[in-house]
Amino acid sequence: MIENPGGSHRVVVTKELPGARWLQLLTAADCRVEVSQSTEILSEAELRAAFGDHCDAAIGQLTESWSAETLGALRAAGAAIYSQYAVGYDNVDVAAATRLGLPVGNTPGVLTEATAQLAVALTFAAARRIAEGDRVMRAGAYHGWLPSMLLGALIYRATLGIVGAGRVGGAYARMMVEGHKMDLVYYDVRLNAELEAYIADYAAFLVAHGEQPVTCRRVGALPELLGACDVVSIHAALTEETQHLIGAPELAAMKEEAVLVNSSRGALVDEAALARHCRAHPRFRAGLDVYENEPAMAPGLAELDNVVLAPHLGSATTWTREGMATLAAANVAAILKGWPVWSAARSLEDVLPFLGDQEPPHAAPSIVNADDLGLPRLAAQAPTKEDQQ
Ligand code: DGY
Repeated sequence: MIENPGGSHRVVVTKELPGARWLQLLTAADCRVEVSQSTEILSEAELRAAFGDHCDAAIGQLTESWSAETLGALRAAGAAIYSQYAVGYDNVDVAAATRLGLPVGNTPGVLTEATAQLAVALTFAAARRIAEGDRVMRAGAYHGWLPSMLLGALIYRATLGIVGAGRVGGAYARMMVEGHKMDLVYYDVRLNAELEAYIADYAAFLVAHGEQPVTCRRVGALPELLGACDVVSIHAALTEETQHLIGAPELAAMKEEAVLVNSSRGALVDEAALARHCRAHPRFRAGLDVYENEPAMAPGLAELDNVVLAPHLGSATTWTREGMATLAAANVAAILKGWPVWSAARSLEDVLPFLGDQEPPHAAPSIVNADDLGLPRLAAQAPTKEDQQ
């Protein structure tokens, strides 16, 4: 599909994106927008064929490999930006892009609450055996209420562990702590002072209502968290250091009846080890939205009743996905127009100015290598790397 064929900047988009606003932004920026109609994951050869020898910008997907070679070819075709339609960018060689002088955009903030909600949904689907119950109903195998049918775990006043306390981890923690009065243990190289203060305030609120407070504790080592928690949810970025952060030894350190949730990136968990662990420990439960080799799953995982599986749906709400498209397009439009980079901060509200009906700010919402490239910022305060995850 080609939109605004007379536009003077050629922008290649590797998948159809939801909503109309993103196209309006690009059209207003005098772009000719070429959108691939393929629903298959494009190979690097297909990506290069799509942008050819002249392309001013590309909007790509987390499922594609944007290696140094592919980014080099994009740069050689004249591109001024690669814009990722996702907040995570572990599939993009950002160091290579920076060496090439190529800005890399992403879409933080807009998907925080949606992804945290999906993690909450998986937590309870796993703990309360919702998918098993669904299968019972569809099979016509429900013959009436029984006292011991499909008993799960009560998640209330229990201990919650989050691995990674950035935007999504923090939002998930607040939903779980506040909603279910859980004590929080978190593992992150950075202190999350905002989250700690929020939980301290909530604890004071509970005391004021005659209830036991909740607690919040940051640990310096992962095993300390794993052994203490009834629910462990992963919200870390995937890097060389965090690959297989949860493997057989970590699973063995968890409680026999714990719930493990991963809505971040599949390779943070050794999926084969998880399948073995779930087979050997039927009272352990896992809720997965992401997989090590998407779209494939480790052999055996699909046969396990104590695992709930979703197809990478974290950000899959209409508002969120349309908003991601708007941010990805706004990154392109701003760089092509020579505008500065927005000063992103932590909350959803930070990107709302780009998502309303009004004229968006004259800025690129999020360029992950902006500081390394020395790109100017609209506001004084520069974001941390954590803000852009
Ligand atoms: C992201 O944006 O990184 C998510 O995984 C997509 O939902």
